[in-house]
Amino acid sequence: MTPSIFITGTDTGVGKTIVTAALARALRDLGRDIGVMKPIQTGVARTSEGWEPGDAEYLAAVSSTGDPMDLICPVRLEAPLAPSVAAELAGTAVDLDRVLASYRKLRTRHAGVLIEGAGGITVPIQKDYGMADLARAMDLPLLIVARPALGTINHTALTAHYAQAVGLTVLGIVIAGMPAEPGLAERTSPAAIEQLTGLPVLGCMPFDSNIDVERGDPGETVEWMIASGTAQRVLDRFSLAASGHSNPENP
Ligand SMILES: Nc1ncnc2c1ncn2[C@@H]1O[C@H](COP(=O)(O)OP(=O)(O)O)[C@@H](O)[C@H]1O
Ligand SMILES: [Mg+2]
Repeated sequence: MTPSIFITGTDTGVGKTIVTAALARALRDLGRDIGVMKPIQTGVARTSEGWEPGDAEYLAAVSSTGDPMDLICPVRLEAPLAPSVAAELAGTAVDLDRVLASYRKLRTRHAGVLIEGAGGITVPIQKDYGMADLARAMDLPLLIVARPALGTINHTALTAHYAQAVGLTVLGIVIAGMPAEPGLAERTSPAAIEQLTGLPVLGCMPFDSNIDVERGDPGETVEWMIASGTAQRVLDRFSLAASGHSNPENP
């Protein structure tokens, strides 16, 4: 079964783009027909040729899905702010119809799509419409990307509990940027997160200094996705959730 998943994070800058790109490329390398999408990108400047590159360009470069950029990233806003705030500052509103139409189009072009949210799960897109509402409108389960460092237990548990409280299925958690020599907090947080949330940590992606976002170079993260078994665990969790278990932890 080819998965479609909404990737959220415990914060901005936690590794959503790195994880989404590596997972998409890994699943494609495993023979799955996967597309990528960054529905709303904020904090990118308009240039004479269009827009300066952002997450969407990295996702597209790493995954090589070959889709037009206006489908991969239908809404861009210049201010480095939450989408509703950036839109208001620009005197506009996020065009949700355009976002959902692009999503439906990508679903017709691929067997599955990985969607990278903006910021965390409660981030507002319109006045009364947030990232969780978008995941619900797309009818997608969540993958949560979290930091390894101290503070991550609280942020991850809050994200998982909020998502479940509004009716979303959480497949699991990927921790991004695990240091080569983890400290006490990094070593102990994955197990603590599993215990507190009842959700599996599907992988702890090592910190990779060869990642070059501007050049679209994922370092070793794609190989890691496959070799660590993380891509397979994501596939298994998706299949379990899709088979009708709203809480895949208790099939
Ligand atoms: N596994 C990793 N190894 C090294 N750096 C990472 C890793 N994951 C994320 N980063 C760094 O953290 C920064 C933020 O990651 P990004 O995926 O853009 O976060 P988000 O999409 O959640 O805002 C990136 O510029 C990247 O260099
Ligand atoms: Mg990102």
